[in-house]
Amino acid sequence: MLVAQITDFHCYATGAPPLYGCDNNANVARVVARLNALSPRPDVVIATGDLAADARPGEYEALDALLAPLEIPLYVLPGNHDLREPLRAAFAGRYGVENDGAAYVRTVVDDYALRLVALDTTVAHYHNGAVPEEQARWLDATLAAAPDHPTLVFMHHPPFDTGIWWMDAMGILEGLDALAEVVRRHPQIVAMVAGHQHRTIHAAFAGVPAIVCPAICYAVALDLNAEAEGKFTNEAPGFMLHRWSGETLVSHTLSLEIHETLDVWSNPKIWPAYLERLRSRLPMPWSTGAED
Ligand SMILES: [Fe+2]
Repeated sequence: MLVAQITDFHCYATGAPPLYGCDNNANVARVVARLNALSPRPDVVIATGDLAADARPGEYEALDALLAPLEIPLYVLPGNHDLREPLRAAFAGRYGVENDGAAYVRTVVDDYALRLVALDTTVAHYHNGAVPEEQARWLDATLAAAPDHPTLVFMHHPPFDTGIWWMDAMGILEGLDALAEVVRRHPQIVAMVAGHQHRTIHAAFAGVPAIVCPAICYAVALDLNAEAEGKFTNEAPGFMLHRWSGETLVSHTLSLEIHETLDVWSNPKIWPAYLERLRSRLPMPWSTGAED
């Protein structure tokens, strides 16, 4: 099973000028085209928040149009730049969003080999995140309902400090200890994946892999100095492809930039000779005899 993760679009209303030299809306269109063209195609796509730049209705309308060509099921949850009400108004009945007025977006997808559980960590009108008691209790009960179904928890704010102090200060400021207790109670969690940090980051939380997907827009500068000034960079945007084998989750990062494939098999004899050994999982010598 393949789960594509895209995050932190910071989508503008149509016609708004690019910010920090990055055309966020064009990048959403690019990633949608990339996802449709991937082979094998992902089974499902999750978008882990900061869908909009400032949570204005026109931004969700613009995003709706940009996402329309996506041919793969998509589930979204809010980030600190989103607000639940305009998000719900725009996407009600789609992308796992219900216009139910509930306090949190609580998407659970049971349809796949990997169960997908969205943990909404946002606090309306604040950049930091939180896991209030009621969210920890809901997650506990949700996980307890399917203890044998391997589960991917997706959220906006990562559940760990990264060393980028000013972003950590806008991390989950409440409820991490309770969240860790919940995670430890449910060994079917194979990983927790997040966004928010606008970088690729790998860590662990409560014994579980915890992964941050790079943003579709500009990146947060990697500066681990304690007094670092908050800055962004134009590092290449990216997204992730999580492959669940039934036993192991492997997370690949893809650049949004298209790269050229290098022709390393210019001798037509080499690849068939390699292929035979590779398919049989035979030891691979430096020379197969086909190189000459
Ligand atoms: Fe963001």
